[in-house]
Amino acid sequence: MNTLIGPTPQELRRALHEAADWVASYLETVGDYPVLARVTPGAIAATLPWSAPLQGESLETILQDIDRLILPGITHWNHPAFFAYFGISGSGPGIVGELLSAALNVNAMLWRTSPAATELEQRTLAWVAEMLGLPRAWFGEITDTASASTLYALAAAREAAGLDIREQGMAGRADLPPLAIYTSTQAHSSIDKAAIALGIGRRWTRHIETDGEFRLRPDLLQQAIETDLATGVKPIAVVATVGTTSSTSIDPVSAIADICQRYRLWLHVDAAYGGAAALVSSHREVLAGCERADSFVTNPHKWLLTPIDCSLLYTRRPDDLKRAFSLVAEYLRTDESDVVNLMDYGLSLGRRFRALKLWMVIRAYGRDGLARLIEGHINEARWLAQQIDAEPGWERLAPVPFSTVCFRHVPARGMDLETHNTAILEAVNASGAAFLSHTKLNGAYAIRAAIGNHATTHEHVKRLWDLLRATAVRRLQ
Ligand SMILES: Cc1ncc(COP(=O)(O)O)c(C=O)c1O
Repeated sequence: MNTLIGPTPQELRRALHEAADWVASYLETVGDYPVLARVTPGAIAATLPWSAPLQGESLETILQDIDRLILPGITHWNHPAFFAYFGISGSGPGIVGELLSAALNVNAMLWRTSPAATELEQRTLAWVAEMLGLPRAWFGEITDTASASTLYALAAAREAAGLDIREQGMAGRADLPPLAIYTSTQAHSSIDKAAIALGIGRRWTRHIETDGEFRLRPDLLQQAIETDLATGVKPIAVVATVGTTSSTSIDPVSAIADICQRYRLWLHVDAAYGGAAALVSSHREVLAGCERADSFVTNPHKWLLTPIDCSLLYTRRPDDLKRAFSLVAEYLRTDESDVVNLMDYGLSLGRRFRALKLWMVIRAYGRDGLARLIEGHINEARWLAQQIDAEPGWERLAPVPFSTVCFRHVPARGMDLETHNTAILEAVNASGAAFLSHTKLNGAYAIRAAIGNHATTHEHVKRLWDLLRATAVRRLQ
């Protein structure tokens, strides 16, 4: 006889209330924590039992351990002074959506395994497309990350090349030339990873040089395609980026689209970070030309207040995407026609109900609220850039088209700038007051401040700037 194991409904209700209070208090006080976790490697593991408990414990006890065992090892991405990488800003409505989707726990592999999950996903993605000025008719789906979205897009591109790789594979085929994809030297490593996973290979992932503002050069793209064609290599796709990871540069998508059209290549746009900026009417043009893409990715978990994970993959060629991935086992066959079965458009069969949190975010903030938040971040980044430009001894290393600023301190020529700026960065991060990351641009070490948290105010950015200057002065004393 099976008896009820686990918390009673009353215990669960109590724990949920407690967890809700915990979340609200945490979000209210997150700015008081050191942003970067202050633990050494292995310190958290050392506090955890070696083996799982034999008997179940109360949720109350477990919740108490969150503060004691887990929080010390948390780097606070919710902190308003989190300026590293690209912030992921998990807003309240997104957190509520995440909780509810866990509670519903539906698996939207087929339309019938939760019609609401499939239909809400389709409608919410159409909303976002419209919000960003992209074709509303594009097919859209939610994946976990931009890395997965790009992998899927390039799998569709490979399928669209008509080489029957789906059935015949790539190994040992005398009829198959090397397949090449093209992207810039500034592109995210997810493009290379997709090429590795798809059997294209890194060697055939052409990294085209960029101009003085880190934008892919279309003339060199065309040259590379011509050279490959002349030597028997088959170009299949180009990946353009709107908001590159290091400097947030914007590739000239329209010119790249012209080339893709001329050579009949699939155009994928990686706007994982930058896409959200198109919500702001003055920034609509950042996506100019993207309406001509075959596929497009943007991540609400980067700059659209949605807790990780949530990446949107759009394509105007859903049939190619479906051909790349659809495989319907007998037990998954259904009678419904005219429905979208999301399992057909990617690797995973099971899929989370991610649309719920995105839908809640969009409804709770409205297009206007989201646009104002993003515009605020862009304005703060401009302010920071202006301070850097105006301050002797500081140097900006890239334009600031979005909300990320790359810069360094140059107190005197002839100094080892990498060592000096690394030390500034580490001192700021060790202070706990802010968290920054770095990159290299044209070989120069750059401190990188990305503004993207919904709680970041002008005061936080001003404090960061004061802290940077004070740290640099201290280092020189
Ligand atoms: C331009 C760009 N593309 C793709 C990615 C990968 O995103 P994800 O972590 O969702 O795979 C990033 C991550 O920062 C990025 O900056």
